[in-house]
Amino acid sequence: MSRFGKAVLLCLTLFAAWRLCSTLFTAAPPGPGAGPAVGGDASCLPLAREVGVRAAAGTGSNFVFSPLSVRAALAMVASGARGDTRRELLRFLGSSSLHGLHHAPVNELVGRLNGLAQTSFACGVWVNRSLALTPEFTATGASRYGATAESVDFVSGAEQARQRVNAYVADATKQLIRDILPPGSVDSSTAVVLANALYFKGAWSHPFDVSTAPFHVPGGTTVGVPSMTTGRSQYIALYPGFRALKLPYKNDVLRQADAFYMLILLPDSGTLSLADLYDKAVSTPEFISKHTPVEEVPVGQFMVPKFKFTFGFEASSDMRNLGVTRAFSGGDFSGMVSGGDGHGRVSISRVYHKATIEVDEQGTVAAAATVVLMDGTSLEEREPPHLVDFVADRPFLFAVVEERTGAVLFLGHMVNPLAG
Ligand SMILES: *[C@@H]1O[C@H](CO)[C@@H](O)[C@H](O)[C@H]1NC(C)=O
Repeated sequence: MSRFGKAVLLCLTLFAAWRLCSTLFTAAPPGPGAGPAVGGDASCLPLAREVGVRAAAGTGSNFVFSPLSVRAALAMVASGARGDTRRELLRFLGSSSLHGLHHAPVNELVGRLNGLAQTSFACGVWVNRSLALTPEFTATGASRYGATAESVDFVSGAEQARQRVNAYVADATKQLIRDILPPGSVDSSTAVVLANALYFKGAWSHPFDVSTAPFHVPGGTTVGVPSMTTGRSQYIALYPGFRALKLPYKNDVLRQADAFYMLILLPDSGTLSLADLYDKAVSTPEFISKHTPVEEVPVGQFMVPKFKFTFGFEASSDMRNLGVTRAFSGGDFSGMVSGGDGHGRVSISRVYHKATIEVDEQGTVAAAATVVLMDGTSLEEREPPHLVDFVADRPFLFAVVEERTGAVLFLGHMVNPLAG
């Protein structure tokens, strides 16, 4: 199909998606952000940039992160927030309204991920015995994020509760993400725990051959690494300062509605840094879809290293830097919990995220989890809000994306294929 034909088809698909949204959700008034995010979803990309640039600069470590998983966990948190607390969370998530957030095209995908053999998407909420989740919060969590809720006792059973959340996450990620909550992270001040777990497995539409090829690690070292090679035409496009490679995953019969691919963005040697490329990648929500190659071209030399690693971090300080402050102190979560002394006076204490990815000649297996811990705060303790104003032989950025919705399931960079 010609480029023009594809553009027309894309417009038609987006139009159809928009029509579907508007027919299904006519009951609620469409807010300013209610339409589909045309060709992209900005959720959590600034957070990925913040942490990714730090990981690349500091220890020069590999990095992987799931925007989709963080989005899901924080979208549940946002649905229970009110006033400025909610506004800050929505801005962080790149939506202008709760309606826009819950009805974005990525949310359609969330519903389908669960029905597929090779992917899974699970959300859970654990609430302290003395508190009750509001019916509205429970209903939104169940319908939009497939969330299940459970009442636990964080006073007498904090350690059991921690192990329960970790087991839930391990189970939903086929044991790839274990111990997301470190020892001691759940205690008697914990009021609510919200978790998302995501698992993805995709086989390349055409498997690759493997041979050892050189890779230039930052600092001047060159290492020999097992790499994917092929003589077959590939989706490659050249842009000023970098080149892009699209590696489509095979569509299984059940997955016809979705089209997953890996996008690799490789800076030209000596021009763009990974940090520059991150800045570009998060500059607009459409950047990733706009820089996804659409044409197969014959390849000369082709080399992409195999890699496998895990990256985990705690996100609360980065979230504060990106403008989420009230949710951490004196925020309004009256839409989430009632009961206890505080009447919605809970706040986020920690946001744990962990992701793992393995890329080889057959395809990709990746998993991620996000867990938000919320503490109870009584009215007396309430603080004033903090006014906090394609020869990939060198480091590259990668993303696992779903084409139709623009959802970014995983995003990261690879600086050293031999580092775990
Ligand atoms: C959790 O519930 C217990 C009663 O089961 C209560 O004593 C405690 O204060 C509650 N904790 C929070 C943070 O709400």
